Amino acid sequence: MLNFEYCNPVKIVFGKGTITELDKLVPADVSVLVLYGGGSIKKNGVYSQVIAALGKRRVLEFSGIEPNPFCETCMKAVEMIKQEKIGFLLAVGGGSVLDAAKFIAAAARYDGTDPWDILAKGAAVKSAVPLGAVLTLPATGSEMNANSVISKAASGEKLFFSSPCVYPQFSILDPETTFTLPARQTINGIVDAYVHVFEQYMTFDVNAPLQDRQAESVLLTLIEEGPKVIQKPLDYDARANVMWAATNALNGLLGCGVPQDWATHMIGHELTAFYGIDHAQSLAVVLPRLLTHCKEAKKAKLLQYGERIFGLKFTAGDECKAADAAIKATEEFFNSLGMHTRLSDYKIDANDAAVKISRRLKERGTMLGERADLSPEDVSEILISCV
Ligand code: NZQ
Ligand code: ZN
Repeated sequence: MLNFEYCNPVKIVFGKGTITELDKLVPADVSVLVLYGGGSIKKNGVYSQVIAALGKRRVLEFSGIEPNPFCETCMKAVEMIKQEKIGFLLAVGGGSVLDAAKFIAAAARYDGTDPWDILAKGAAVKSAVPLGAVLTLPATGSEMNANSVISKAASGEKLFFSSPCVYPQFSILDPETTFTLPARQTINGIVDAYVHVFEQYMTFDVNAPLQDRQAESVLLTLIEEGPKVIQKPLDYDARANVMWAATNALNGLLGCGVPQDWATHMIGHELTAFYGIDHAQSLAVVLPRLLTHCKEAKKAKLLQYGERIFGLKFTAGDECKAADAAIKATEEFFNSLGMHTRLSDYKIDANDAAVKISRRLKERGTMLGERADLSPEDVSEILISCV
């Protein structure tokens, strides 16, 4: 096992009716800025529960945070924080709202000239406005991690940063808030969580059997519970299981002491930046082809995965076929949820994507993968095969 440090300071409050706990969790003596997206929380009653729980506090609102949130939008909230002397941010929504809140929190306290440098140049985040979250879409794990992914409209970039300063102080996870998710977002969430596990698991063996089995348990839970929430959106137990699985897929635990890949995510972020497809849609397209491209390097793990998750047996000499079968089973799982897995399904020209994305990675000097040996040329080949 590799050396690691693990610390997760996020308090999770999980279950039905837990939004009322905000009264205990949010400080009473500061102005609170409630951040949210396009209005789903107003339609499903989450907004009114939040406002009721905040009681007599001074509460201001900032809405209109878009999916794949833009820096430009976030900076408007930063202005408001400075003008109104906001002391606490409450993000209410999916990963986009939570990620935006983290960037806004850091940008409001940034001492350099342009907060975008936090993402573009890795500028240090030294402090942030304290924040908490009410999650309405299980997918990203943002509720229990220190990551944020932000886009910039002006440059067409989508970049991430990570800082211990932007961990939410708490996250409320009430599975009932997810009952109103459109099927597309429910499916996105299951696939995103699945791929988060893959990025930390589907690499090479470092004798970390516990982490392997923790990862496999999240995958199996998503495979068992995912179809239930698609068939029965109001199944509380299945919604709860998917929600907790998605949080566990990216709260840092699975990645302790093991190599991590993240190439699918890096390529996927570029697909979203250039063509606007949903985050999880981009992952579902890239992952199967990336696994095929990296089959030799990942073979031992692919065989273990195929056997333990899908019961795929193999005999000596059959390894290559068994690895292919494991990749196929993964893509079939995504398809069975209703997720498309080809660029042509989104009317994206594979050659165009290959040229644009490999060029951008080359300009940045980026090498991807758990061994940092996946070059822009490899990425180009992968994308061409995503046709
Ligand atoms: O904006 P509203 O009206 O709230 O509608 C949202 C949005 O249109 C809707 N929605 C959310 N909860 C709902 C609901 N509709 C009905 N009922 C509910 N309960 O769903 C739509 C999508 O929301 P969004 O927050 O964009 O989705 P998701 O949670 O998948 O977040 C995606 C973003 O997270 C980033 C992605 O890159 C993308 O920008 N990621 C963040 C990560 C992290 N922080 O660790 C890791 C991930 O890999 C990912 O990159
Ligand atoms: Zn993701």
